Amino acid sequence: MTNPRHNGLRSVADQTEDERGGPGSILSRQSRDHAELDELMRSYDATSDPGERGRIVAEVGERALRHAFAEETVLFPAYRRLLADGDDELTRHIEGDHQTVNEALEALQRADPASADYDATVRHAFEVIRHDAHDEEDDLLPRLQQVAGVHELRAIGAAWELQRRTSPTRPHPRIPREPPGNVLTGIPLAVSDRVKDGVDHLLPVGSTRRRLAAPVVVVAVVAVLVIGGRRRS
Ligand SMILES: [Fe+2]
Ligand SMILES: [Fe+2]
Repeated sequence: MTNPRHNGLRSVADQTEDERGGPGSILSRQSRDHAELDELMRSYDATSDPGERGRIVAEVGERALRHAFAEETVLFPAYRRLLADGDDELTRHIEGDHQTVNEALEALQRADPASADYDATVRHAFEVIRHDAHDEEDDLLPRLQQVAGVHELRAIGAAWELQRRTSPTRPHPRIPREPPGNVLTGIPLAVSDRVKDGVDHLLPVGSTRRRLAAPVVVVAVVAVLVIGGRRRS
């Protein structure tokens, strides 16, 4: 079956895992992650509890951002390098969608999950994430499949997975969506995101523990800066 983009190529969604190049190929890895993301997004509609909705959006957000960052740093550069006609209009379009999702998720970090605005922003972000997955499965990945061999598809898959695991976990709409800017900022952002994730885990936002610990955290940060400054001088 050909895909709805009428490009004459078979959508990755209509291929078996063998046809995609096996479980480690970038086609299979993308397809699995898109399906898991979709299931997670569906669970948002299964509850009306603001706390639970906030937790689901945070999980979708982290997962979608890691997935997209690994595309921007690994998959899209490989696609632009391998495609003979250097067609990068498609990757620019998808990077634009990633930017929209980054901006929406950043706005959601400051929004109240019980508000109507929050729900509207979530639904818009989910729609863009789904649209993005279709662009990749129906267009970008089948085009890549035409020019890359199975070994290459698996090598790109392994590099994408490695990048996905080590990528930033929070929205960063102000960094470039393309190399080298995103590659250079990716490592320090991944480290600082994990520090923030650790603090949020120990001291949940809005909790009494967090309010009580805030002065201690400020004193600790100032102490580290002062001690660090003395050592350098
Ligand atoms: Fe994407
Ligand atoms: Fe994707």
